[in-house]
Amino acid sequence: MATITEMNETVEMRIGKETYSLPVVTGTYNEKGIDISQLLSQTKHVTLDTGFKNTGSTMSSITFIDGAKGILQHRGYPIEQLADQATFTELMLLLLNGELPTQQELSTFEDNLKAHVGLKGGLKRLLDAMPENTHPMCMLSVMVNALPGFYRANLDSWSDEQVRWDSIYFILANLPVMTAYIYRHHHRLAYIDPDPSLGYVENFLYMMFGEVDEDVADALDALLVLHGDHEQNCSAATVRVAGSSHVNLFSAIGAGVNALWGPLHGGANQAVLEMLEAIREDGGDVERYINKAKDKDDPFRLMGFGHRVYKNYDPRARVIKKYVDRVLGKLGKEDPVVDIAKGLEKAALADDYFSSRKLFPNVDFYSGIIYRAMGIPVDMFTVMFALGRLPGWISQWAEMRTNNEPIGRPRQVYIGPATRDYVPIDQR
Ligand code: SDX
Repeated sequence: MATITEMNETVEMRIGKETYSLPVVTGTYNEKGIDISQLLSQTKHVTLDTGFKNTGSTMSSITFIDGAKGILQHRGYPIEQLADQATFTELMLLLLNGELPTQQELSTFEDNLKAHVGLKGGLKRLLDAMPENTHPMCMLSVMVNALPGFYRANLDSWSDEQVRWDSIYFILANLPVMTAYIYRHHHRLAYIDPDPSLGYVENFLYMMFGEVDEDVADALDALLVLHGDHEQNCSAATVRVAGSSHVNLFSAIGAGVNALWGPLHGGANQAVLEMLEAIREDGGDVERYINKAKDKDDPFRLMGFGHRVYKNYDPRARVIKKYVDRVLGKLGKEDPVVDIAKGLEKAALADDYFSSRKLFPNVDFYSGIIYRAMGIPVDMFTVMFALGRLPGWISQWAEMRTNNEPIGRPRQVYIGPATRDYVPIDQR
């Protein structure tokens, strides 16, 4: 359960001659939430908040974001420290269990993951049936959503503790396998089966490219940590709502995969690289594209900029930007879009349109440059985001089920036609 102080505060709401008292909950960092869970029964009113910009859906103890200050913490640990010092499998256990693991706990966890590595042949045949030019996120959605068909023993992935952890180990262990198989199929390359003797990230790189570059493995581990969780983002909220129907874990994750694909969410990392390439091919005129992004009549948006919660620099983007020069230098690679990205950032941050709306680079602005330097193609970037976000999705799902939260079913305000009688078609 989230750490909240006693409900010793209330707010008053006056509707007509009636005054209603609503409890206020206080979070760890003194954030305030007005509990409206009894509002409809008390006042016959619902609230309206399209896009949930002002609405909390739950109390959670997994991730804390202070959007104004650009702070991100997982279970109280700052993201900057986790990115620099924790491994991705350590972060998985921190998100899932709430504490950093001991070496023994981590070794046991990693052994459990290795014991679950491997997909039934039918899933490979399912992937083989997909046209090679299918978008990798579509392929990932097909494979994840097909899991209940191949692993029927995992359908009740909550009530039985052993089945629950078997399901968690299985999907954490095999999303890298699916990702690598998708990349190989997409590029008409033979699959490289997992080598369980390798570490989590090393094994993924081996299945992708047939070799492991330790510098790439270190940088990728940090990138995956940076994508681990992000409280109630679009895809995590989707996993929670889907999971609240008590569907199995694999199907709830499949819903999250589909939500992440959107260019306003996880699909932005692909959209950023495509944008940078378009600007480069168009002569690199940064000012022209800044003006396009500001023009309300132009559909162009500065992808990788802006955030629903951060009204400051996304702390993940700050860390990733630090890795850009380091990784490209270590790999001896240069990317002409790096200067374009830095030029866009500089121009945008100096422009009143962006600063007045508190639009800063987000996690997607620089991440694709590093993925590409690692040899990962642009249309695989969002699958990489899913790989990083998986432990966060699972943790959010588990917290929702642990707290026995009700099925997610928002209300609405109806503004359609009033009651009217049916008119037979020959009289219309
Ligand atoms: C992720 O939620 C999360 O935590 C997500 C995420 C995670 O880890 O899970 O952090 C990952 O999804 C990061 C965001 C990736 N998406 C992009 O980079 C796409 C580009 N960004 C935007 O589409 C937008 O900023 C959103 C979708 C991220 C946020 O949209 P909001 O909160 O609904 O804000 P908005 O669209 O209402 O924008 C407010 C104003 C508007 O202008 P006005 O109507 O006030 O004049 O800012 C403008 C917008 O037009 N604006 C932009 C802009 N983003 C917002 N203008 C130009 N370029 C942009 N990128």
